[in-house]
Amino acid sequence: MSSESEANPSPNTEIRPSSCRVNEAGHLVIGGCDCTELAAKFSTPLWIIDEDTICKGIEAYKQGLKDYPDLQILYAGKAFLCLAMCHLVHKLGLGLDVVSEGELYTAIKAGFPAEKICMHGNNKSESELNAGLQYGDLVVVVDNLSELEMLNAIASKLGKRARILFRVIPGVEPDTHHHIKTGQHDSKFGISLDELESAVRQALALPSIDLIGLHAHIGSQAQEIEPYLENVDILADLAQSLKNSLNFELRCLDVGGGLGIKYSSEDNPISAYAWGQAVSRRVLEAFHKRDLRLPRLMVEPGRSIIGPAGVTLYTVGHCKQVASGKKFVSVDGGMADNPRPITYQSRYTAALANRANAPAAKDPQTIVGRYCESGDIIIKEAYLAASAGDLIAIFGTGAYNFSMASNYNRSPRPACVLVADGNAEIIVERESNEDLIRKDRVPDRFLR
Ligand SMILES: Cc1ncc(COP(=O)(O)O)c(C=O)c1O
Repeated sequence: MSSESEANPSPNTEIRPSSCRVNEAGHLVIGGCDCTELAAKFSTPLWIIDEDTICKGIEAYKQGLKDYPDLQILYAGKAFLCLAMCHLVHKLGLGLDVVSEGELYTAIKAGFPAEKICMHGNNKSESELNAGLQYGDLVVVVDNLSELEMLNAIASKLGKRARILFRVIPGVEPDTHHHIKTGQHDSKFGISLDELESAVRQALALPSIDLIGLHAHIGSQAQEIEPYLENVDILADLAQSLKNSLNFELRCLDVGGGLGIKYSSEDNPISAYAWGQAVSRRVLEAFHKRDLRLPRLMVEPGRSIIGPAGVTLYTVGHCKQVASGKKFVSVDGGMADNPRPITYQSRYTAALANRANAPAAKDPQTIVGRYCESGDIIIKEAYLAASAGDLIAIFGTGAYNFSMASNYNRSPRPACVLVADGNAEIIVERESNEDLIRKDRVPDRFLR
């Protein structure tokens, strides 16, 4: 590791949150809070979010990108969003990327400034676009030409000019799971390269549209830098050809997010700091080389900021060995609070939160959830020597866990606590059984 990287730690290269320690009692401590006490106070399953990791992750991006003269870092809310997270990322100086009316509503309720919000989505509804423009001068990332027309009509009705970026399909494929690739030629997100010039021509002719630039996001949990640099070069080529053909110059260039995190020893993502340096240098070079005006550079990390900050705490229930010799350790959560393993075969790392110094087991155990699917497996092979009543911590669960969670098997979603300096504050309350039936309605005829 270079001394520059050491001075700019990037939590996305570590499995555990930055504040994670083991105390004299052998208990895992996160944000100064003993996990056994968190479990006793808030119950399990519990999502723990470490504020220090979020701050360090954001700082790593800021330091890596600091030589770029006009920069906007937006946090991608789809990874994890609630009111407290909106407040925290705003306090830390970031903008916010939202992809639905619900995420926008959360941002509005948190008082997030409209001009620092970017609206994404491949099928934004009239109501979403209307809500966005009504809220203020945010940026809409337009995915297709029918959306462009819809937005122009809405903006015109509201007497506004909508600031937009076009999302393009760059044809770049990072090495990640196919469900989370978005930049390949047959992607559902964005406009094909060969249609862009005509789309830009149309946008420039629309009175209520203010086209400010281009966007391309290549996918998520990518670990290497090359696809990102290729993406920048493709966008710079597009910028040049739009200048030559239409005399249109980009004011903004949004290169998306997608940097991966270290879920297990098999992952080796480039650090957020190094990513920021490499991407910003490439944009500077690419635009200078083509003699183009430097655009504002926008980046949209989600997972790499919140992923390593999250730990899920479970209590071990029944343990058993089946005829094949396989040992199962069942915990009190699973695919409803973390659908990633069953969706993407994601791998995780675990520790015993109440006996963190216990020797590893000789034989592997499979840590499984409590839900009615055989695929509800959290870790296929763990060596934890766990038994009933133990607490298991799963690291790296900050991103796409809370935000993708469900009520499968009518299970209330867990609470979410933010930990910092020995304090634990609830930022999302645990759902109750009552919450589960709150929207149920029984037709009168069943009651007669
Ligand atoms: C347009 C866009 N920007 C940013 C992100 C954030 O990606 P990640 O959480 O991998 O950084 C996504 C997620 O896929 C996305 O679709």
